[in-house]
Amino acid sequence: MKSFQNKYGEYALITGGSSGIGKALAFESAKKGLNVILVARKEDELNKTSEAISRQYGVKVKTISADLSNDEGINKIINESENLKVGLFIPAAGYETNGLFSKTNLEKEMMVININVVSTLKLTHYFSKKMVSEGKGGILLVSSLSGHMPNPFFSNYAGAKAYVLNLGVSLAGELKEKGVDVAVLSPGLTNTPMAKNTGVDWNKTPMKKMEAAKVAEIALNKLGKKISIVPGGRNNFMAFMAKYMTPFSIGTKMNAKMIRGALSPDRL
Ligand SMILES: NC(=O)c1ccc[n+]([C@@H]2O[C@H](COP(=O)([O-])OP(=O)(O)OC[C@H]3O[C@@H](n4cnc5c(N)ncnc54)[C@H](OP(=O)(O)O)[C@@H]3O)[C@@H](O)[C@H]2O)c1
Repeated sequence: MKSFQNKYGEYALITGGSSGIGKALAFESAKKGLNVILVARKEDELNKTSEAISRQYGVKVKTISADLSNDEGINKIINESENLKVGLFIPAAGYETNGLFSKTNLEKEMMVININVVSTLKLTHYFSKKMVSEGKGGILLVSSLSGHMPNPFFSNYAGAKAYVLNLGVSLAGELKEKGVDVAVLSPGLTNTPMAKNTGVDWNKTPMKKMEAAKVAEIALNKLGKKISIVPGGRNNFMAFMAKYMTPFSIGTKMNAKMIRGALSPDRL
């Protein structure tokens, strides 16, 4: 625990820290002795999470209510965390759309890019610069199994998560020698509000939900040791099969058939 604190202290800044995987990562960071900064929009959820973490672990918790989909929100995060030593940055907030691409709403598709890609790029650029000048720190980007394979009916989301995956594993090769550990967490289906609201009947797919706490525990234990972290045996098997055993021509057809059979018919 001491070495985790030495490497990644004093604060972990976690976007999406009030719900699901981001919230679990915030609890796990506090358990490992870091103070935390939680970022999300809804102040009541931020406050509830903040109180629960400080009650359980006695660490300092700061909240920043900001919207990651625009520059005003991103600048607010930078300004309000400027004087704190952020040694661990985790952009876990995410947004997804799904359904037949020609039917989806373009504004929502742009939101997928703004939150998953643009805010991740801008904040990773900012925090990596500070960490390089300190000669230490950690960055845990959050992709998805969707970023590892064709994912028809989640096409833009899959593209955004593929960006995050390749950004992270590439940055890892630049920043390790500057003392900064970069890793990419790619969860499979995880029991969170986002997964509940997809309109997909996951029971009709081979996916099995993992608990967010387990995902977070695995992620922080592997940070600094692995650059691509896929939590869970089944998810690892799927990522392996997608990468080494399944050409796109087959993966695309197979996954389209799976989602077509499980997605709410009005979205097809
Ligand atoms: N759940 C899964 O099955 C799964 C699988 C693979 C990857 N992932 C990825 O894991 C990450 C976390 O997902 P999750 O399932 O834990 O989601 P979640 O439970 O729905 O939580 C999303 C978090 O992001 C915040 N957020 C959303 N839009 C925001 C915005 N515009 N500005 C600031 N904060 C915003 C939300 O708070 P507010 O609404 O208050 O802003 C919330 O704290 C995402 O990157 C997701 O793509 C999830």
